[in-house]
Amino acid sequence: MSQAPSRTVVVLAAGEGKRMKSATPKMLQPLLGRTLLGHVLAVAPAIGADRTVVVVGHKADEIGAFVAEVAPGATPVLQAEQNGTGHAVRIALDATPDLTGTVVVLSGDVPLLRAETVEALLATHEKAGAAATVLSAEVDVPGGLGRIIRGADGNLERIVEAKDASDEQRRIREINSGIYVFDAALLREALGKLSTDNAQGEEYLTDVFGILASQGHPVAIEVAEFAYETLGCNDRAELAKLRVLMRDRVNEAWMRAGVLLLDPATTWIDVTATLEPDAVVDQNSQILGTSSVATGAVIGPDTTLIDTAVAEGATVLRTHSIGALVGPQATVGPFSYLRPGTKLGRKSKIGGFVEAKNAELGDGAKVPHLTYVGDATIGAKANIGAGTIFANYDGVKKHHTTVGEAAFVGSDSVLIAPVEIGPGAYVAAGSAVQKNVGAGELGVSRAQQRNIEGWVARKRPGTASAEAASKAANITPEQE
Ligand code: UD1
Ligand code: CA
Repeated sequence: MSQAPSRTVVVLAAGEGKRMKSATPKMLQPLLGRTLLGHVLAVAPAIGADRTVVVVGHKADEIGAFVAEVAPGATPVLQAEQNGTGHAVRIALDATPDLTGTVVVLSGDVPLLRAETVEALLATHEKAGAAATVLSAEVDVPGGLGRIIRGADGNLERIVEAKDASDEQRRIREINSGIYVFDAALLREALGKLSTDNAQGEEYLTDVFGILASQGHPVAIEVAEFAYETLGCNDRAELAKLRVLMRDRVNEAWMRAGVLLLDPATTWIDVTATLEPDAVVDQNSQILGTSSVATGAVIGPDTTLIDTAVAEGATVLRTHSIGALVGPQATVGPFSYLRPGTKLGRKSKIGGFVEAKNAELGDGAKVPHLTYVGDATIGAKANIGAGTIFANYDGVKKHHTTVGEAAFVGSDSVLIAPVEIGPGAYVAAGSAVQKNVGAGELGVSRAQQRNIEGWVARKRPGTASAEAASKAANITPEQE
């Protein structure tokens, strides 16, 4: 039985990326929900790779740990000294002597590359029966990138590094993206012939093309349809440009899928987040991590969702939310803070200036104003008055509070956990509740009010208050 030739992805990720000037390695810099390297690793399964090899070097432990986490099936290979891209691939192939078939080489710092583009490269490679195929791109400013040298027939002759190029070659605007497909056996053989006789004293992977071409093996070029996909990034200014390009690409895809983005230029959606048609995102909002927004939900303006699921028809306005579930037609905000474990039932409400943590609100339950709800279960249709504090922490441990269905908690109450307010129970405003309140009972816990007659006239004579009080006393006697 014949099998399709195996497809291996080799990701080059050993370089240092000094110009990022960051304690975080360049490969692990974040970009819309993944690291740079994370985006590149995601291409491998998308093109059906049988195997992924990642060449690590600079900060190998940190990057190796990241690879083990996000691509556990990948094989890390250590390139202790970074002697060039050819050296990196040679070390990868030396470490995998059984590797045959097709090898796709990707750069760990080229995160915008789509699987579709690699598929197009593979198709060109296969159609041409090529030994090696390079993804090129036409750019306005080729700068320090390698140049594609074509012969009179238009075929690839070789790739020249900018530092080794003549002035005339430097004027060529077709550049080498650093993305390639090779026949494994021919690549292995050609890598054995690389020299370091060049401007940088490195083993250039690009020289493989000249070597194979001069041996009469067919080599091919696929010109990228979208040159920006081949952009790498060396410093934070370049990273910021990639971020904008990716944001626009992600936003465009969601808009074409039926999502209403009112201001795409200020809307940031991680590649790991999902939205349904007719979801609405207003300006200055971020939909991050594993967040999801269902149809008819309105997010923002000025809202950040992190790992938060918003159900259909819900509204989340000027809110920061992490690890929360917002139920159907629930409303949140403005100016509220949802923390992990918050679960809001259907048509429930979290109003303005409310913080909720590990708090479950039943259907139609309301926490409309200025409240902290920590470690609580609030029954359906219960109402929590303005300024209520769920005092969940005794200084050592956290405790739970339960508020029953349709209970009513008066404003400015403190519910001192652990405590239970029964179904349909009331708590008088201003109470500090330490004892359970049974179903249908009124819990009152505050000092009796007493009014001391004439106190202002005696203790605050000559003040505006005393004057107002005396005026009131003169005007009102007939009414008493
Ligand atoms: C390389 C190409 C150049 C191309 C450019 C595209 C060579 C000789 N030149 O440039 O033609 O236009 O990419 O970006 O290949 N890496 C290692 N080990 C090393 C050296 C590099 O793993 O020893 C990794 C880097 O981490 C990076 C990738 O290989 O992910 C490319 O390296 P980089 O130094 O950016 O590319 P250049 O060699 O400058
Ligand atoms: Ca580069």
